[in-house]
Amino acid sequence: MERAWVWVVGVVVLLAAAAQAKPPNIIVFLADDLGIGDVGCYGNTTINTPNIDKLAAEGVKLTHHLAAAPFCTPSRAAMLTGRYAARYGLVGQEHRMPVILHLASLASLPVHEVTLASALQAANYTTSIIGKWHLGMHCGWLGRSCPGPLSHGFESFFGIPVTLFQEFRGSHPFWKFPLDETKFQGLLMTWVVTMLSLLVAVKKKTVRMSLVVAGALLTNLLLALVWFVFAHYSKNSECVSPWLHQRLNSMVMRDDKVVEAPMELDGFSQRLAQESRQFIASHANDDRPFFLFHSFAHVHTPMFSAPQRAGVSKHGRYGDNVEELDESMGVVLQALKEYGLEDNTLIYFTSDQGGHLEAVDSDGQRIGGHNGRFKGGKAQGGSEGAIRVPGIFKWPGHLPKGVTLDTPTSLMDLLPTVLSLAGLPSLSKIVPEAAQTELDGEDISELLVTGKGRKGPRFFIHHCSQAINALRLVTGSHVYKMYLAKHKWHPGSTQCGWGYNTACKCYGEFVDDMSHQPELWDLNTDPYEDGKPIDPHTVEYKEAVGKMQEYLKQWRGRVVYPPSQLSTVSKIMWRPWLQPY
Ligand SMILES: *[C@@H]1O[C@H](CO)[C@@H](O)[C@H](O)[C@H]1NC(C)=O
Ligand SMILES: *[C@@H]1O[C@H](CO)[C@@H](O)[C@H](O)[C@H]1NC(C)=O
Repeated sequence: MERAWVWVVGVVVLLAAAAQAKPPNIIVFLADDLGIGDVGCYGNTTINTPNIDKLAAEGVKLTHHLAAAPFCTPSRAAMLTGRYAARYGLVGQEHRMPVILHLASLASLPVHEVTLASALQAANYTTSIIGKWHLGMHCGWLGRSCPGPLSHGFESFFGIPVTLFQEFRGSHPFWKFPLDETKFQGLLMTWVVTMLSLLVAVKKKTVRMSLVVAGALLTNLLLALVWFVFAHYSKNSECVSPWLHQRLNSMVMRDDKVVEAPMELDGFSQRLAQESRQFIASHANDDRPFFLFHSFAHVHTPMFSAPQRAGVSKHGRYGDNVEELDESMGVVLQALKEYGLEDNTLIYFTSDQGGHLEAVDSDGQRIGGHNGRFKGGKAQGGSEGAIRVPGIFKWPGHLPKGVTLDTPTSLMDLLPTVLSLAGLPSLSKIVPEAAQTELDGEDISELLVTGKGRKGPRFFIHHCSQAINALRLVTGSHVYKMYLAKHKWHPGSTQCGWGYNTACKCYGEFVDDMSHQPELWDLNTDPYEDGKPIDPHTVEYKEAVGKMQEYLKQWRGRVVYPPSQLSTVSKIMWRPWLQPY
């Protein structure tokens, strides 16, 4: 009898040890362009985000959580790698787009960069991304395969390869011949003159008939080509007409293949949620833990909702999209609960950057987010509204419940923090190739668990593409922010105009250059920068700015940025021979 008890206890202990040994599942929810002021638990009283609010109530809510860039591509890259995107050139440069534009183009997250997914894959996790990628597709010849996320540690992918564009909505004309434009007038004249000359040649019998026919065919072909370029090459930021854009980039992919083109927008949020549910269902009983990256297509423009979700919120189409995002998150979390995985799953929720203040729909309705009292929004370099985003961690039994922390943290902290919380070896142990890789993110697991962070100062760099627009220095009692360049806003606002294609630029005539006498704020005493910056004649200014300038000098001496990929036309342009068909 006694021996049986010993045996039972032994088995129980072993089982407990085994349960302990399996690292937690990990789910990362990433919203697109969601502002910190768009979420209930961050102070919005009129929007309905019960699932995000519940996550915060059951986990740790970060109120000073910072995106590493004010645009999708570099911010997402930085989150997944724990490193500023400028370190591997996945940033723009003045006067070029700051993000990847075409599926069939060369710009991409370099394959040798280690991502959270590749680290977890090396640690025996099953990995999947469901939703938006936007970090380059690495397409092969004739687009036979576009592995994209599969080259970065994800075993499976379902979602959109680039991003949503306003052009994906509606239908756009293919035929156009606007005769008020000189280039089309020229084209018409050329055609008429060539055809007339050919006719004359036929009448006078100066050349053989077969030559005339060949000439006519050739001219028409050439002119048709010229017409296509005139009609569908465009000087807009994407370089292609809306019609062509929709053909080239509006698609849904599964793994490395296109499964739907053009994509069906309405109901897409629910389809992503169902995919994630299915993923959870099929890996619930695996021996291996899973990593699911649920990367929402919402709340980027264009706005779309399933019919039953349209008109539900108090805030128009934008509010509907926020609430639909929240609902989708609820569906995925419900699956975790159903399969009994809640306690052994670490969840993280954030947004890749602040709300897009300028966005309005074709009918004038506002379709961009709200950044609370923080100034500025998406695309504005170091403006607080561009980079201050929601951030929530939850892991029952391991992280405290309902705690709010105002220590500054970064999306780049995700990778080292997840490895540490999950009890995995350090990055250089899991991925030996990463031994020389310097991370910009930090392990904040101790902060999350105990509420107490590191002792020494911490610096954050706020890039505008390759340039540095601001710096942040966190000391024991201050959070200093130093602007080297600051936006010129429209009077009475913190934005740069209106229109669905309007986004602020963060260089040249769009900003005030302050590098000679930087503006300094203490966000601990003036979090919304409502008052006046710190007087440059004070000791405090000299000390804080001195420290940050010194840091910057060392940084620039130590870290060499490679050429910007997104400023090279050859890398961002559409490459017909890489397009999947
Ligand atoms: C809540 O969010 C909506 C949508 O962005 C916004 O229009 C509204 O002003 C916000 N309300 C509050 C109280 O912050
Ligand atoms: C992954 O699994 C392999 C074989 O099952 C094992 O040798 C290796 O140690 C595991 N790696 C980690 C990080 O657990």
